[in-house]
Amino acid sequence: MRRKRGFASDNNAPVHPAVFRAMESVNTGHAIGYGDDPFTAGATEKVSALFGTDARVYFVFTGTGANVLSLGAAASHSWESVLCAETSHIQEDECGAPEKFTGNKLIPVEPVHGKLTPEGIERHLYGFGFEHHSQPRVISITQATELGTVYTTEEIRAITSLAHEKGLVVHMDGARIANAAASLGVSFSEMVTDAGVDILSFGGTKNGMMFGEAVIILNPSLDQGFKYIRKQGMQLASKMRYIAAQFDAYLENDLWLTNARHANQMARMLEKEVQAIPGINIIEPVQANGIFAVIPEKMIRPLQEEFFFYVMDERRSLVRWMTSWDTTEEDVISFSSLIREMLTR
Ligand SMILES: Cc1ncc(COP(=O)(O)O)c(C=O)c1O
Repeated sequence: MRRKRGFASDNNAPVHPAVFRAMESVNTGHAIGYGDDPFTAGATEKVSALFGTDARVYFVFTGTGANVLSLGAAASHSWESVLCAETSHIQEDECGAPEKFTGNKLIPVEPVHGKLTPEGIERHLYGFGFEHHSQPRVISITQATELGTVYTTEEIRAITSLAHEKGLVVHMDGARIANAAASLGVSFSEMVTDAGVDILSFGGTKNGMMFGEAVIILNPSLDQGFKYIRKQGMQLASKMRYIAAQFDAYLENDLWLTNARHANQMARMLEKEVQAIPGINIIEPVQANGIFAVIPEKMIRPLQEEFFFYVMDERRSLVRWMTSWDTTEEDVISFSSLIREMLTR
């Protein structure tokens, strides 16, 4: 019988109790809607302090919303294009929302372990000023990547330098930015602001929040009417205080870091437990909270019946196992023991 806990996604984990309590604590009386309230002002200040005094913060509902609006702000003409990894969420998992809502063409670039490289990007930097070609405008990178790997700060700098040299800007999809920061042991500002990122989708949902992400604009020239873009993009929350309260709790006493460190640690533990099992082949470096492994096809179904997880590529029997802030050592042990048992039966 399928267990209630599994390794399918960090989205499947519950809300951290401190976040829930924070939502309840603002649940008294009236507060002006659409963000003109003291809770939103306080949380905005707290988030922006993480990225430097010039950071502009806009709370939104979803990660897809944050990405689409960020790309819309970064590439304001529909004839401009966005370079992204073939494996990126915006390319693979947003049902064409960026193309539909911004009109920009996405140009998938072959990644190395989920990461864009300057060489890979450069192959697509052509056709500037040529009216038959969409005009490269944005490079979008995901930190941590969709394959559970993490860009080093130097790798980010190399991409932002190339982008700026060519007149492009850089968007970072930070749905799992906390896991990346915990993995590298650096601050958000070192990895984002100081590394030259222009606009960021700052995630919280996958690391203990209920819902709510933020668009952080680091390059002020991209903040051309973003408040209108957010409203038109249907991401302006009327009861904003409940998103603000979540961010407030998420940042208090570095809850984000505690949660992300724990999730990463559980991924490392799972890696250690399963890598020695013959038949399990981990194919991506485990640097955040995801494991990508090729496993015997015949064990996928029975294993999924107990612990749900996703198959990423059926042809290769490639599966993804995600850990989250609430994964326990017992979860890891029972899962890895079951794998061992199935393979030695
Ligand atoms: C890398 C990445 N970016 C963005 C998102 C989008 O988040 P949402 O499902 O909230 O739209 C996800 C969700 O899984 C993701 O993994």
